[in-house]
Amino acid sequence: MCGIVGYIGEKRVVPILIEGLKRLEYRGYDSAGLAVVDQGRMVIHRSVGKIKELENALWGTSLGGTLGLGHTRWATHGRPTEENAHPHTDCTGDLVVVHNGIIENYLALKEKLLAEGHFFRSETDTEVIAHLIEKYLKVDRDIEVATRRALNDVTGAYAIGVLWKGDPGRLVGAKCGSPLVVGLGQGDFFFASDIPAILNHTRNVLFLNDEELVVLTRDGVQVTTLTGEPVQRPVEKVLWSPILAEKGGYKHFMLKEIYEQPRAVRDTIRGRFSEEAGQIFFEGMEALDEALPQIQKVILIACGTAWHAALVGKFLLEELCRVPVEVDYSSEFRYRDPVVDPQTLVMAVSQSGETLDTLAGIKEARARGCHTFAVCNVVGSSITREVDGVLYTHAGPEIGVAATKTFTAQLAALYLFALYFGRRRGSLDAARVRDLLADLVRLPQQIETVLHLDTELERLAHLFHTKSDFLYLARGITYPIALEGALKLKEISYIHAEGYPAGEMKHGPIALITEEMPVVILAPKDKVYEKILGNIQEVKARDGIVIAFCTEGDLDLPRKVDHCLAVPRTSPLLTPVLLAIPMQLLAYHAAVRKGCDVDQPRNLAKSVTVE
Ligand code: AGP
Repeated sequence: MCGIVGYIGEKRVVPILIEGLKRLEYRGYDSAGLAVVDQGRMVIHRSVGKIKELENALWGTSLGGTLGLGHTRWATHGRPTEENAHPHTDCTGDLVVVHNGIIENYLALKEKLLAEGHFFRSETDTEVIAHLIEKYLKVDRDIEVATRRALNDVTGAYAIGVLWKGDPGRLVGAKCGSPLVVGLGQGDFFFASDIPAILNHTRNVLFLNDEELVVLTRDGVQVTTLTGEPVQRPVEKVLWSPILAEKGGYKHFMLKEIYEQPRAVRDTIRGRFSEEAGQIFFEGMEALDEALPQIQKVILIACGTAWHAALVGKFLLEELCRVPVEVDYSSEFRYRDPVVDPQTLVMAVSQSGETLDTLAGIKEARARGCHTFAVCNVVGSSITREVDGVLYTHAGPEIGVAATKTFTAQLAALYLFALYFGRRRGSLDAARVRDLLADLVRLPQQIETVLHLDTELERLAHLFHTKSDFLYLARGITYPIALEGALKLKEISYIHAEGYPAGEMKHGPIALITEEMPVVILAPKDKVYEKILGNIQEVKARDGIVIAFCTEGDLDLPRKVDHCLAVPRTSPLLTPVLLAIPMQLLAYHAAVRKGCDVDQPRNLAKSVTVE
């Protein structure tokens, strides 16, 4: 996610902004910039790459000023370039904006502003905010009023900082859906995306709520609602260390990212559909839209956790688009001499967009004349530059090596893609899409509900963390989640675990069952529920320990197993998302209990860019 730092006071602002941005580096970024008002001039510096590049650009400038904004950009709309780096300005260059979030209606606003004579310098959604404020500033001549009016025009998620050369005594911030914390120093005042950016200057902070606006002056801080009503926010004392602050108070980045999943899914689907119209909108589909109705086969290629997401994607695409889907490990696909043709769509699923085998697989597919597509979390990554179209997950950077929020964001993205593809192929009508979207809209809140199982999962992990082997069983669309649960346990706690289709038990794995073997069984109320009950009996008949996950309201299953946790009822097509969360938490707590390095497990890299 992007990082924002704002300062007003008596100290030289540039070192404060640079140091604050460095404290936000953990949020991930691809470019950085800052703007200060120095001797009546608005001075802006922006650079692609690390903050060091920005420091190099500032070297020797002896830039003064005690008022400014800094920003680190994690690209969502528009490639990582200097033009797209923040701060963004209005037409005059006298007003700057920095932003973290997604403006859903920016295209419509941009067209209107262009028609009113504004000219744009970037591809970003953010720049629209600067021109909206400029438009209202011409009328109100007050930066706070103009910002308020501009924000009433936008829909989406934002945390913004606004600075105007015409009023060097005020810094304006606002928040809706993205974080902004205000720091109260000794005669100087701050706001930032997260506490680490200001912790070296003050531990006295206040947190804005959504649709609130803050004005910093050299005399203090004033918080109001977007409609202008004053608001009293309590000042809180931050007791965290800087390191703990980077993890948002969580013990590990992995746990923080597990808890970020409601937001990651919400941001991934945000602005990409109209529930009432039963429509899905993706950007950048021009090259593919014409080909989609003629596609005869889809091949999903991926590695690791992304491969598990691809397996769920197979169920989604085959059920909703009635198109045959193969799923292949990228490392297998690229050497398999696959039977493909121009009516084949090869889709890469990759969080990093840099996995070498997946990149090579896409290049192989292109060389054979296939259409290509990617679901990816990193704008401008290698895979995204090779394909005909990209659907970005907006999970934000994932620091923990074990994929969590990017996995559930991939599932949400694949679900949306299946709706889009189904509409194009005529296998879904608007009414059916409306129903399917209604299930999707409820998902982030249901993920929040599942996160309440954390304590119970910690208890189970403590019960079984000394076991040497686990078996994970499921059927149908939740079978990939059994595989994912086993992978999570293996990769962070180093306990051996295998995921298996439950129907395969009699063909071998049943020989493994003993009273020492914990067997995790996913048993949601779906069309294969009765079959999975039979598998539970098979395990229990051999004294296996069954840890089951069922659908809320199932009163029968708890009586048949040793431990049973329930997840909310949703469409069977979205149940994999809800079941993934307890898989992640069970593995996390087992690893913590074993004293493993949860964020940096041995032998593993976040992105496998070698064969
Ligand atoms: C998952 O927890 C692992 N970190 C790993 O399996 C990962 O999913 C795999 O390397 C694929 O990475 P990608 O999504 O960046 O392509």
